[in-house]
Amino acid sequence: MIESTDLRLTKMPLNNGVGWMPALGFGTLIPDPAVTITATRDALNAGFRHFDCAERYRNEREVGEALEAGFAAEGIAREDAFITTKLWNTNHRPERVEPAFDASLQRLRIEYLDLYLIHTPYAFRPGDDQDPRDQNGNVLYDNGVTLLDTWRAMESLVDRGRCRAIGLSDIGLNELLPIYESARIKPGVVQVESHPYLPETELLEFCKDKGVVLLAFAPLGHGMKPGLLDDPVISAIATRVGKTPAQVLLAWAVQRGTALLTTPKTAARARENFDITALPQDAFNEINRIQTRQRLNNVVKTGVPGFIAQGR
Ligand SMILES: NC(=O)c1ccc[n+]([C@@H]2O[C@H](COP(=O)([O-])OP(=O)(O)OC[C@H]3O[C@@H](n4cnc5c(N)ncnc54)[C@H](OP(=O)(O)O)[C@@H]3O)[C@@H](O)[C@H]2O)c1
Repeated sequence: MIESTDLRLTKMPLNNGVGWMPALGFGTLIPDPAVTITATRDALNAGFRHFDCAERYRNEREVGEALEAGFAAEGIAREDAFITTKLWNTNHRPERVEPAFDASLQRLRIEYLDLYLIHTPYAFRPGDDQDPRDQNGNVLYDNGVTLLDTWRAMESLVDRGRCRAIGLSDIGLNELLPIYESARIKPGVVQVESHPYLPETELLEFCKDKGVVLLAFAPLGHGMKPGLLDDPVISAIATRVGKTPAQVLLAWAVQRGTALLTTPKTAARARENFDITALPQDAFNEINRIQTRQRLNNVVKTGVPGFIAQGR
């Protein structure tokens, strides 16, 4: 039996020399405000120090409240945490970037961000309505701004010391390449859906080559069943190594060199999802050989968040 290695404190170096990101991240996409507060505190208590937020989740206030109280209660310094938030699609116009950034910081009750991401590469009609639609329900996109225009405004936030790193989310390699090439400040992190059914191998190879962190969301397949959590390969490995299927999936993600986001909503699950150790090589290889391919979230194709209905 191969001795297990602790993966809990794995650190991912950031490419612009501004330090590192904890590989294990807690995602705050939680619709219920009260659950947002308890789950964030539970994650902090379990050991998570990386928190992924977004103006689109409409709960930055609750996350900020939970972190402020948690930091004070546990004696954790702001610098010991890694906090990310994301610019929403309706704020892509350069003049809207800094006001959106300031509003997020204020809601989160912090002075600087570790990472600011462009939530999706799709610009929506600018304004307060996060989901602008025409009479027929079609999304109103904004053709008056390019992703590079938005990126330049993001770079300016780094120049002025307002955030340590910037990146993109819900983007494919084809859209990432031109931004990467034109960027004065290179993307430090790319956040995309990734799990054994959607390994995003080509993107991961590009990221590794350039020192960009690939931050995987849906590492548990959004918890859907049937799905990854009851996949027979994953379940058999879990039994063999004495871990839960969730722990096996999270370990695999870190072992292949990605950071990850998970959203446990109870204290017990927070402890479970933080307590991960490396899989034996044969188990790791077995997961790499899984052939099922499935994308769970269509946001990368439209900019509109939402899971793809099961069975489709
Ligand atoms: N950039 C984007 O567009 C984007 C899109 C989606 C998500 N994200 C980010 O990624 C984060 C992670 O989201 P996710 O849905 O991918 O999280 P996840 O942790 O992979 O999946 C959450 C689901 O898994 C279940 N779960 C969690 N821990 C479990 C365990 N130990 N055993 C069994 N089931 C477990 C949860 O069930 P319960 O609800 O019953 O606890 C929930 O249904 C989000 O919070 C957000 O920050 C980003």
